[in-house]
Amino acid sequence: MRPAVLPDVATLRATIAAARAARPGLRVALVPTMGALHAGHLSLVDRAREAADVVVVSIFVNPTQFAAHEDLDTYPRTMEADLDALASRAVEWVFAPSAAEMYPTGFQTEVRVPRVATGLCATSRPHFFGGVALVVLKLLNAAMADVAVFGEKDWQQLQVIRRMVLDLNHPTQIVGAPLIRDPDGLAMSSRNAYLDATTRAAALALPRALQNAAQAVAAGARDVATLEADATRAIAAAGGRVDYVTICDEASLERSQAITTGARIFAAATFGSTRLIDNVGLLPGVAAG
Ligand code: PAF
Repeated sequence: MRPAVLPDVATLRATIAAARAARPGLRVALVPTMGALHAGHLSLVDRAREAADVVVVSIFVNPTQFAAHEDLDTYPRTMEADLDALASRAVEWVFAPSAAEMYPTGFQTEVRVPRVATGLCATSRPHFFGGVALVVLKLLNAAMADVAVFGEKDWQQLQVIRRMVLDLNHPTQIVGAPLIRDPDGLAMSSRNAYLDATTRAAALALPRALQNAAQAVAAGARDVATLEADATRAIAAAGGRVDYVTICDEASLERSQAITTGARIFAAATFGSTRLIDNVGLLPGVAAG
């Protein structure tokens, strides 16, 4: 059965409150998404189901995390297919608010997590994490779920959300779920739908370069600058326009001076007109939440 679609915050709150009243101790999980759901999203739903009795998936293409020149207008919107996909996981509710519901006339509040939202994706997308933090806080406040699940593909986003929730004493537990790859190695993303076959084949250089870095570290390589340069060169050779290739500590996101426990390689590159991100643990340290 398809999930019930809840169009506004009042209905979401009333629905969850009624379910909690009917079943004391009920655990609720929230999975925030922008729709165009793929198997990576469904793995978040599966993780949510492990952690809770009922699951609400939000589908909202959040305008505040897109810059004027980005793909807000063309971002894939596939609500009917999304509802079918969520029916396959017996998701109870979809929260699908309008932009006017989330950002009423006169809206002016900002949420900033300045240090974690520095470097990596924030350099070329300075607006992005403010928009994400704002909408995620609004979604967390609307649902007041016990847990909320986010994918580790957007590793910096996950750290921004973890920091925000800690700093603001939000009671919802944040759970990270592993990045899911297609069989060819590309990290699953709604934006992969933009890639034609040729561009997609070229884009495989991105995960390959990061896996090669991990293999080099496993074989004893320890020079941060060399590992970053090798990956950058491999991505560029395949036609990718490299935004960054950076090795950071996976918890603080500060650039690594040496390859130590918790080192992770992060990269963003544009193939054709599609910007892709990826990350791979080099010497994993932080356990996924
Ligand atoms: O990762 C996403 O899909 C979005 O950034 C999120 C967390 C749903 C906020 O709009």
